[in-house]
Amino acid sequence: MIDAQGINKFFGANHVLRDCDLTVEGGEVVTLLGASGCGKTTLLRCIAGFETPDAGTLTLAGQDVTRLPPNQRDVGFVFQNYALFPHMSVEENVAYGLKARKAPADQIKREVADALDLVSLTDFARRFPNSLSGGQQQRVALARSLILQPKVLLMDEAFNALDAKLRGAMQVELRKIVKRVGITAVCVTHDQSEALTISDRIAVMAEGRIEQFAAPAQIYDNPTSAFVADFIGAANILTRDAAARFSHAAKTLNGNAALVIRPENVMLGGTPDDGVAGKVVFARLTGPAMEYEVALADGTVLRALVDRDGHVPLAVGADTQVAIRNPDACVALPGAA
Ligand SMILES: Nc1ncnc2c1ncn2[C@@H]1O[C@H](COP(=O)(O)OP(=O)(O)OP(=O)(O)O)[C@@H](O)[C@H]1O
Ligand SMILES: [Mg+2]
Repeated sequence: MIDAQGINKFFGANHVLRDCDLTVEGGEVVTLLGASGCGKTTLLRCIAGFETPDAGTLTLAGQDVTRLPPNQRDVGFVFQNYALFPHMSVEENVAYGLKARKAPADQIKREVADALDLVSLTDFARRFPNSLSGGQQQRVALARSLILQPKVLLMDEAFNALDAKLRGAMQVELRKIVKRVGITAVCVTHDQSEALTISDRIAVMAEGRIEQFAAPAQIYDNPTSAFVADFIGAANILTRDAAARFSHAAKTLNGNAALVIRPENVMLGGTPDDGVAGKVVFARLTGPAMEYEVALADGTVLRALVDRDGHVPLAVGADTQVAIRNPDACVALPGAA
């Protein structure tokens, strides 16, 4: 559905997008994930047509749209601030695009009802935006875009204005809605848990490049760089020398420069034969698990996530043994830690 190849973009001397390739299948939800300033919005705006790449091509549903303006691309865009019309009711906001297209009144009525049902806002049809919560306004904005049945839905940090709890709920809701509709979507976020919730595939970006583009589990289990390992989930990234202390895991290294060990793969307790001596320097309850930081003799600090079931909590200052639960789950990286 979307095929972006070799996208480059400069703002003056600032090379903001570097050889970005992105292919998105029909019905797929893809997230652009990365730190502030890495180029996510710029890439999304290139897909929408608000920016023109300096090099590269963009195809939507087989049509080369690289030089087409946004209104000829059949994309829907949901902005961070929703951009609802304050003087229009919820149903008028949702109907707006169909009215502008001069759709027949009975069709508008039917499709507005369907769209409001889709986002669970049927009872709010006559309300005005300023009497809605942030999450409700967000759902109006979504309904307003979806009713036009664009080929592609683009969303830029659409949940930023919501508090943490509502934000999490809206992410789950969005995932369900877009899957129900079967629309192709590209979302931008700097929030890794949001990316994991809503995406079929995630493009992790850094400094204008797409570092890795893969399914969430693939990115989590097999990061291809230390940057990606560190950006998605928590990661212990050990240098070759530090990793060599863990005799089981050291085999996994196989001449590589660094080893990625997820905190849930770090085991505490056991006997000195099993692992390496360490001291707890930080402990906290995360809910279902205890999280620890454990310092080894050489100063290496490892993060460990230990299921609370049957675990006697360790206090800061306690001595313990650190071992790798499953060496096969560690990922060796050729680049430096
Ligand atoms: N219109 C513009 N003119 C000049 N420079 C720009 C323009 N838009 C973006 N930039 C620069 O391009 C780079 C990428 O910006 P972009 O907005 O794509 O980042 P982002 O990944 O979306 O960041 P954030 O998470 O903060 O929204 C930044 O260095 C930014 O300052
Ligand atoms: Mg942005």
